Amino acid sequence: MLVTKLTKLLGIRVPVVQGGMQWVGFPPLVAAVSNAGGLGILTALSQPSPEALRQAIRETRKLTDKNFGVNITLLPTINPPDYEGYARAAVEEGVRVFETAGNNPGPLIKFFKSNGCIVIHKCTTIRHAKSASRMGVDVLSIDGFECAGHPGEEDIPGFILLARAAQELQIPYIASGGIADGRGLAAALALGAAGVNMGTRFMCTVERWVYEFGSPLQYKNAHQCYLSTIHQNIKDKIIASTEQDTIHIFRTLRNTARVFKNKVAEEVVAIERRPGGAKFEDIRHLVSGARGKQVYELGDPDAGIWTASGVVGLIKDSPTCEVLLRRIEREAEEVIDGLKALKVDEPLKAKL
Ligand SMILES: Cc1cc2nc3c(=O)[nH]c(=O)nc-3n(C[C@H](O)[C@H](O)[C@H](O)COP(=O)(O)O)c2cc1C
Repeated sequence: MLVTKLTKLLGIRVPVVQGGMQWVGFPPLVAAVSNAGGLGILTALSQPSPEALRQAIRETRKLTDKNFGVNITLLPTINPPDYEGYARAAVEEGVRVFETAGNNPGPLIKFFKSNGCIVIHKCTTIRHAKSASRMGVDVLSIDGFECAGHPGEEDIPGFILLARAAQELQIPYIASGGIADGRGLAAALALGAAGVNMGTRFMCTVERWVYEFGSPLQYKNAHQCYLSTIHQNIKDKIIASTEQDTIHIFRTLRNTARVFKNKVAEEVVAIERRPGGAKFEDIRHLVSGARGKQVYELGDPDAGIWTASGVVGLIKDSPTCEVLLRRIEREAEEVIDGLKALKVDEPLKAKL
């Protein structure tokens, strides 16, 4: 077993967190990760309202008696969602671990800490990490340039960011972005991290749930049937993809996002590269959340924009979360043992 500051703080067996994922972080996946010994995280904004988040938390509890968290992502938007309402609903439902991401997390962090919660804050620069640390977060999730979703605008690779975290941070941090296996976990631990945060890898796992309340997706009237939140076609697409199959959109709008390189993403980038650039209005029809959601529901990889990192190149199967986390744990231990074997007391004589 690997015991780290993260496993001790969260009471989990494996130092692996499943990061918040829009349209993916639903109860079946979250429960599967927590049941497998990691920390599953529900994505608040995938629920249409704070009340719906309450239901999702209750559904998750039916599927696991283990600890799980809730992600609240603060978006750069003119009409912000009811963040406070989502946060209050989750705390009232007894959730005690939160992942925050995005700009200006201060008020949310204050609210969670005043309610005795553990806060993991995701950030892409050491400056932001230090600032969140001063706000009282418990763990920093250090998200390198490799990550799926928003890597920030400063393009700092994970290796450098983590080594800088080791130099600068006083509180535990986990490595996020580009990790899918035990080698990645072992490398993260070597860089001083207390564990890892993974997104893309968890998209390609088997998670099932029994519907009793109706679904957040299109299966509204389904009752007591087993379903997965991501269509099998998309999982097959991920398995068939390489590390070259992602692309950055919104670079010119300074809201960079790493997404799967499909026809829609390439069209967005082409519009952004037009002489004179693009305004959000020019690409709004391509990047809507409703279209992105359809990718997972209909299993059409070109239906809209969907988030993924180069980790797709590392994914060769779609195991259960239990099998995945056991494998990651075993591989990491083997790597660590292998590294120990590199250290010898006496220099070997040259064979020449
Ligand atoms: C499909 C998908 C949706 C995501 N949505 C969110 C989100 O809503 N909020 C958030 O903080 N991070 C989001 N992320 C980022 C993940 O939480 C995580 O930080 C990231 O995936 C790590 O990089 P990796 O994919 O290389 O493991 C998303 C990632 C994926 C793959």
